[in-house]
Amino acid sequence: MLLSLTVNGIRHEIDVPPALRLIDLLRDELGLTGTKEGCGEGECGSCTVLLDGRAVCSCLMLAVQARDREVTTIEGLAQDGDLDVLQRMFVEHGAVQCGYCTPGMIMSAKALLNEDPHPTEAQIRSALAGNLCRCTGYTTIIEAVSAAAEMQEAAAEAPTPGRGGGGGAVAATEVRP
Ligand code: FES
Ligand code: FES
Repeated sequence: MLLSLTVNGIRHEIDVPPALRLIDLLRDELGLTGTKEGCGEGECGSCTVLLDGRAVCSCLMLAVQARDREVTTIEGLAQDGDLDVLQRMFVEHGAVQCGYCTPGMIMSAKALLNEDPHPTEAQIRSALAGNLCRCTGYTTIIEAVSAAAEMQEAAAEAPTPGRGGGGGAVAATEVRP
């Protein structure tokens, strides 16, 4: 069936089988392999992406459920070659070891900061409760998200010397047979 959706600011029209999962569309059809599959059952959070800004498990969704909606994956966070503040803080705080959980962690944290730019530690832990990490022990991850929130706040309060450039979603359209 023909599916239209926007992924990381790019509009796609693509013919998909009705039972194709969203994670398979992203990884196999669109080549966005940053999104990882761990359990495939909604238990580990490694497949987390944003759907209209909210965190969802892409292993539990059909691709067609994203029709006419906006999907953001880890590849969509960096802007003009600059990593998102969450990505930078994960690196700086040593919150990445094997890295398998990291894209899902960051997308869940992104959804949290979209909704609440000033989360408490308890709120961060709650938002990431569905994301499992076998390496870090979570402490550095919580610290990274907290630091990203502080940096966002500081940036919002700082005077903005003409941030020209950014502005608006990418308008490119990709149409696949
Ligand atoms: S792969 Fe989706 S929750 Fe584990
Ligand atoms: S860094 Fe290895 S699973 Fe989290």
